Amino acid sequence: MAIERLVEPTAAHDDAEEERIEISLRPVTFDEYIGQEHLKSNIKLAIEAVKKRSDGSTLDHILLYGPPGLGKTTMAGVIAHELGASLRVTSGPAIERAGDLASILTNLKDGDILFIDEIHRLRRAVEEVLYSAMEDYKLDIVIGKGPAARSVRLDLPHFTVIGATTRTGSLAGPLRDRFGIIHRLEYYKEPEIEQIINRTAGILKTKIEPEATKILATRSRLTPRIANRIFKRVRDYADVNGDGIIDKPVAEKALDLMEIDRLGLDPADRNMLKLMIDNYGERPVGLTTIAALTGDEATTIEDFYEPYLLQMGLLMRTPKGRVVTEKGKKHLQKEDEHLQNKKNMI
Ligand code: ADE
Repeated sequence: MAIERLVEPTAAHDDAEEERIEISLRPVTFDEYIGQEHLKSNIKLAIEAVKKRSDGSTLDHILLYGPPGLGKTTMAGVIAHELGASLRVTSGPAIERAGDLASILTNLKDGDILFIDEIHRLRRAVEEVLYSAMEDYKLDIVIGKGPAARSVRLDLPHFTVIGATTRTGSLAGPLRDRFGIIHRLEYYKEPEIEQIINRTAGILKTKIEPEATKILATRSRLTPRIANRIFKRVRDYADVNGDGIIDKPVAEKALDLMEIDRLGLDPADRNMLKLMIDNYGERPVGLTTIAALTGDEATTIEDFYEPYLLQMGLLMRTPKGRVVTEKGKKHLQKEDEHLQNKKNMI
């Protein structure tokens, strides 16, 4: 079941224009990057230390983990900019063979940054090549086949890997051990999301009233990528149905139209919670059962739906499975009543 979700935190682009806008919104420096203060101060320190040493030493490999949409790729771009380094972007699934990785690595230069998104999806054979490359900047390759095969070691430039993953648990121990800096990206605080929305409004030259900013922030799942995506849709709504200014009524109407509720849940989230309550009540439900109920992959539920629902206390994880909390039930009830009232008003 592949419904396109507006609140999906993955980076999907409908067209080139969307992509252009997203790039224009991306912060380039630490000063522009809002939130994740703990992560920023740690990395700033590491960068300063590298710059001060001036003995050709490179930044430690960095592993960033946490729910999607919180700015892992953006952070890699900021780090490269602050270091004055070139950034090469790839992803675990894109590197199919060890040879693909070898070609990426041999084309790097000293000080370059290699960003590997979804690093937990690297194949085992590729991962093994990466170990020695990260550890001592050597590339072990096998030349020839059968009895004539021999192994050669090539020197590689001194580069930094920034790995990103939604799940550290799925990362092989030896790979994890090669990262000197391991950091979790946290959900943003609501005032930080408000700042990001106001920054976006400024860049896109759109007027938004403070009350409207607040409404958008409460419905953005504490995730900048979703905040920006929602902002663009609300801006369209304001342009079509009004004078282009985003005020409280425009924000509320546009978000209701998108069926994003007052905690940022969309119909797919609400459907999942309802199915759990209707079929299991108070009993815990296993992940694969939830997946069977909704028709999604278990990993989709684990990576995309669940983190925010857990963060908001609407869902709880127990050793026996997931349970919808009292808060979750109350929220669904409130939203149903709200929808009913609106229908009665029409
Ligand atoms: N856009 C997306 N993420 C951002 C962030 N953390 N700070 C500023 N703008 C952003």
